[in-house]
Amino acid sequence: MDKSYSQSDPEAIRYAFETFRPEDEILKNVRKNCLEKGLPEIQIGTFDGKHLEILTRIASPKKAIEIGTLGGYSGICIARGLPADGHLDTLELYEQHAQVARESFEISGLSKKITVHVGEARATLKNLSEDGPYDFAFIDADKVNYPFYLEWCEKNLRSGGVLIADNTFGFGLIQKEKEDLGENRFAIQGLRKFNQKISQNKNFRSTLLPTGEGMTLAIKL
Ligand code: SAH
Ligand code: DHB
Ligand code: MG
Repeated sequence: MDKSYSQSDPEAIRYAFETFRPEDEILKNVRKNCLEKGLPEIQIGTFDGKHLEILTRIASPKKAIEIGTLGGYSGICIARGLPADGHLDTLELYEQHAQVARESFEISGLSKKITVHVGEARATLKNLSEDGPYDFAFIDADKVNYPFYLEWCEKNLRSGGVLIADNTFGFGLIQKEKEDLGENRFAIQGLRKFNQKISQNKNFRSTLLPTGEGMTLAIKL
């Protein structure tokens, strides 16, 4: 606990952005298009995107799944990391979001590697179980259902498969166990339950990467 878990000095952060330049022109255009089409600005951060691409490259999954597509920003990052014969299934509740995501995948030239599934993720996942096992999963949809998504991943990821989940610092609220969280409480309870379950699950080895939002990273044993 005596060494900083993350970097709070803005100069260090500026240095990292200038050195590693996480967002290229394509992703910048996709981000802009998502904003113009009226999507909420809740896609992963630029550095999170680069982390995701590289983690995907390391995992080299033939079958990847993303729960929570939005406008396709993170989907592009994952698809960029796929091997030549890799494929991404990405799950989105709203057709309006999915439509923008399809545009994003066209812009990035990655459409052939990605299938967008519209509907409640829990229902879609039931169908996709038949296509498993998967090699890689990114969870970033409704926080209340993170524990369910974890259960699905435990059953449908192969051993050695990678699981990543966004927002696991709970928007700064994950540790505020004694506060009244108002309407956020169900989301935060979902995220706490997810972190607790995965960290104690003998079928996973897991950690919490100190990104701005917090990214839980795990490998299925
Ligand atoms: N991963 C995206 C951001 C996802 S935001 C990116 O970084 O680019 C969360 C998305 O999950 C939203 O588009 C929301 O509509 C979708 N979502 C929320 N609840 C869902 C559900 N039950 N099933 C499927 N998608 C859901
Ligand atoms: C929200 C969801 C996200 O996945 C995220 O990264 C940021 C915000 C939200 O629902 O507000
Ligand atoms: Mg998120």
